[in-house]
Amino acid sequence: MKTALTYDDVLLVPRYSDIESRSEIVLDSDLDNRRTLTLPIISSPMDTVTGDVMASTMALSGGLGIIHRYNTPDEQATILAISKRIANTIRGKDANLVGAAIGVSGDYLDRARKLVKAGADIICIDIAHGHHILMQKAIRDVRTVVGTGIHIMAGNVATKEGYEDLSRWGADSVRCNVGGGSICSTRIQAGSGYPGLQTLFDCSSSDFSGRVPIIADGGIRNSGDIVKALAAGADFVMLGSLLSGTEETPSDTIEVGGETRKVYRGMASREAQLAWRGKTSSLEGVATTVAHKGSVEHTLSDLERGIRSGLSYSGARTIEDFQTVAEFVRQTRAGTVESGTHIMRVL
Ligand code: XMP
Repeated sequence: MKTALTYDDVLLVPRYSDIESRSEIVLDSDLDNRRTLTLPIISSPMDTVTGDVMASTMALSGGLGIIHRYNTPDEQATILAISKRIANTIRGKDANLVGAAIGVSGDYLDRARKLVKAGADIICIDIAHGHHILMQKAIRDVRTVVGTGIHIMAGNVATKEGYEDLSRWGADSVRCNVGGGSICSTRIQAGSGYPGLQTLFDCSSSDFSGRVPIIADGGIRNSGDIVKALAAGADFVMLGSLLSGTEETPSDTIEVGGETRKVYRGMASREAQLAWRGKTSSLEGVATTVAHKGSVEHTLSDLERGIRSGLSYSGARTIEDFQTVAEFVRQTRAGTVESGTHIMRVL
């Protein structure tokens, strides 16, 4: 039986570096030959993560937001148009990419049409088990509706075979990882999944890697995990929990025991399913509240600093260089403990 590794199982070996300032590091990553992000971070299409304010803030920060699909096609198209307008008008920056999610059944083609009309640059075909015949059909049909100028992101997949099939079927980028997200219970309910970092190692060994961007999605808890994901071959990371609780999420602010908090929930949680379709089927996610974190711009700045630091420890000035020179080492359980802060008493 194969051993599959994930984030805490490994570390990156520090290497000789001639980088004198982290500002020498460039974090550009190409989504396709017409679209480049200057920060390789994408916000997840979840109803407690990405609405109009998050999507426009992500665009202005050099990343990308994918607007969630848990509303009507008209509502989603309106949210998209608003975020596009904000991204186009604030600060005069040339960073206005906005994406939106659709499913693979029901109104998905109508949604795709309306979203593109409202200005979507990226359509994300968003299902839990993306290595599926319905995904193959959806990519074909969505391409017919949106044409070749729109980027089609698709997922999620856990394996190299899944990544290669979605690439062959016409996806322009693929979300990789099944069941590893902080609010996921798929692996508990269904016993199915694949450790997240191993998915990246496997997918990046494919001939499609370098042509069809790999998006590491789910289970990323800090900038160190982002650095490991990029080193393992991801072109981008998609974040839910790390961005949850920020001011820009479309989630209500609530008071719990005198503390200000915001809801963060899996889209297959009971709470989310009841909210968007009034009933539940298989429950493969949980709902929680997280502390209000302030503006997402601060979170993104902290993450960006951590990523730059990670590349500098390997002596790499670009993500591409980093993927060439990065060397992983597997750590023992004692190593994992040593890698966390472990002073006996923290004041
Ligand atoms: P993080 O770890 O960033 O993960 O919070 C976010 C990713 O988790 C996925 N997602 C789910 N997976 N049940 C699942 O098994 C769910 O209810 C659920 N909701 C979101 C999704 O890929 C997201 O980007």
